Amino acid sequence: MKKYNVAVVGATGMVGRTMLKILQERDFSIDKLYLYSSSRSAGTSIEFNNKKVTVEELTENSFSKEIDIAFFSAGSSTSLKYAQIASANGIVVIDNSSAFRMDKDIPLVVPEVNAHDITNHKGIISNPNCSTIQALVVLKPLHDKYKIKRIVFSTYQAVSGSGVNGIQDLERGLLGEPNTFYPHQIANNCLPHIDSFEENGYTKEELKMINETKKILHDDDLRITATTVRVPVYYSHSESINIEFENEFEINELKKVLEEAPGIIVLDNPKENLYPLPTEVAGKDEVFVGRIRKDYSVDCGINLWVVADNIRKGAATNAVQIAEEVIRNL
Ligand code: A2P
Repeated sequence: MKKYNVAVVGATGMVGRTMLKILQERDFSIDKLYLYSSSRSAGTSIEFNNKKVTVEELTENSFSKEIDIAFFSAGSSTSLKYAQIASANGIVVIDNSSAFRMDKDIPLVVPEVNAHDITNHKGIISNPNCSTIQALVVLKPLHDKYKIKRIVFSTYQAVSGSGVNGIQDLERGLLGEPNTFYPHQIANNCLPHIDSFEENGYTKEELKMINETKKILHDDDLRITATTVRVPVYYSHSESINIEFENEFEINELKKVLEEAPGIIVLDNPKENLYPLPTEVAGKDEVFVGRIRKDYSVDCGINLWVVADNIRKGAATNAVQIAEEVIRNL
């Protein structure tokens, strides 16, 4: 089996470390592994497949090596500075930041949904926003079958989506200490504020969900709105998704469509109090769906409760799945 040289930029971060874990779990065929961080973590080491790999400082020369695939997860400014350098050296970049997501020449990919878009890549492939990824795994089979007209997203997002800073603010808040990262206390609270506010009153996170969904489904006519909320949960994002379809549906058939779609686990038995919970879903790679019920306020509407591990399927797992598609096409 062919082996690949792989680089992870932001290897010491929460998503970077999870990517390394997933590459090992999925037995990704790696020859040489290069780990990059800022100067802060350079010189430390991380164990990979029972060997210690030294973390190096990211510089412009980091990509003048024989590397096949580079995962970037060190924020937008690092991607904007270095991703083009890597791709100019023939390296396929899988970028977890928002830097290139809405660039029309750069594929934005959830493998269960639009793996075919990878074939058009010109060196960089974007990993969507965490909340968008888990929603799209569920929306795609329903859009194919019943044609979606309108979507209302309401999210309940874990603090790990803000990295170590978010986790520390929740830990501190639970001890009665003041927040240092979020604008308000997150412990025992809900903040209707993820990423910065735009002039129109929406947050960037809300606009990411709206715009990325249209791009991935290749449908600019979809009517979508979103409210994104940070909640005091460590891992896994939850979403209430209200969907209006063009076409009529039968509820049991719709459940079957979801059960048979790739990457989804349906957990829906209200009589047994069975529905997806962030604590149960953390550490898993699938997207979990429950509370599947008709929205009787419109002709063809449905309500869903969708939960996924935001660091795994919402970031690291999706990126590794993209890499698996890339090597399938090499
Ligand atoms: P470092 O450990 O040196 O800070 P998180 O999102 O969990 O905070 O992780 C961010 C990741 O991105 C870390 O690995 C961090 O490295 C890395 N990083 C942050 N800024 C830069 C930069 N300017 N150049 C390279 N890596 C960076």
